Amino acid sequence: MIDFSVLRQDFPKATKVALVTDSNVERLYGDATVRALEATGLRVERIVFPAGEASKTIETYAELVRGLAVLEFSRTDFAVGFGGGVVTDLTGFAAATYLRGIGWAAVPTTLLGMVDASVGGKTGADLPEGKNLVGAFWKPVRVLRDAAYLETLDERERMNGIAEMIKTAVLFDPTLFEALRTLAAACGEGGCPLPPADLIERCVAWKERIVAEDFREGGRRKLLNLGHTFGHAIEHASHFAVSHGEAVAMGMRLVGGKVPEIGALLDAFGFPVLSRDDPHYTAERLLAPLAHDKKRSGDTVTLVIPHAVGDCRLEDVRLEDLRFAANMV
Ligand SMILES: NC(=O)c1ccc[n+]([C@@H]2O[C@H](COP(=O)([O-])OP(=O)(O)OC[C@H]3O[C@@H](n4cnc5c(N)ncnc54)[C@H](O)[C@@H]3O)[C@@H](O)[C@H]2O)c1
Repeated sequence: MIDFSVLRQDFPKATKVALVTDSNVERLYGDATVRALEATGLRVERIVFPAGEASKTIETYAELVRGLAVLEFSRTDFAVGFGGGVVTDLTGFAAATYLRGIGWAAVPTTLLGMVDASVGGKTGADLPEGKNLVGAFWKPVRVLRDAAYLETLDERERMNGIAEMIKTAVLFDPTLFEALRTLAAACGEGGCPLPPADLIERCVAWKERIVAEDFREGGRRKLLNLGHTFGHAIEHASHFAVSHGEAVAMGMRLVGGKVPEIGALLDAFGFPVLSRDDPHYTAERLLAPLAHDKKRSGDTVTLVIPHAVGDCRLEDVRLEDLRFAANMV
């Protein structure tokens, strides 16, 4: 269990903390976490919403900020986002906008939350028109990670985080890539082992470094989209039957054709391969949404293309050339 006493130093004038979480995390860890926060001398208010991406809406966001208002939170009070990326994205967005900005801390409880969502200050909600279309850059004052939370995470959620760790290794870190190869060798019938805390911290450090260089994603931060442009298209084409991690893995395979080690590592972790014969995933179906991609500019899309592990480059690809970039010919 995390020691929350550091939050008293981070928020010295606070009298209240809103513990924002989802129904699953509440069931598993809610009471113990409230007690641990209360031990710091703060009054703890719980705000819980149903688990899942379907809750990442402006309606839930409105419930959060209205909840803070009803509870008379002041500018010196703060919120704790305690859960996966859905919880931390929403909590951060509520914190960014309530009273024009209050402080918040993130306590990620999923692997994806630890290595990705809680790092870098992107917060937000989905709109019916698309994912993450509303939000703010608003960094948590503190992120508290404890790998012990991952023990209760199911295999699919673990693999979502592993896919992001592989992405980090491919982008920046051949040594991490080797460590992940060793981890993959221990995968078996019962699934893959949890990555050790030092590998998690290594991924966090890479993302922090890139975000520090380019907070608003004008340049280098775009590298973090490796596998995601096609990954998002695959998720949509599958109507979300393919998980985020599987889709990112498939996206990395599509752009990673020049680097066979990438496919080999994804195989070792048991990530599925996109079936070219499946009518859901024809080049036409996958490429069409890219014409509406929010990262598109003019008639080109910026793709992240691996040339070697640790050498990935941003390349502007014309829409009509995308199928070549993704080896879909
Ligand atoms: N802000 C960013 O930079 C950023 C980056 C990547 C992803 N995201 C966002 O993160 C979201 C995905 O995050 P996620 O994969 O963590 O999903 P999630 O928050 O929906 O969590 C996945 C599931 O795991 C459950 N869960 C959480 N912790 C658990 C635990 N310790 N034990 C058992 N179950 C647990 C949750 O209740 C949920 O059902 C997406 O909305 C995505 O847009 C944001």
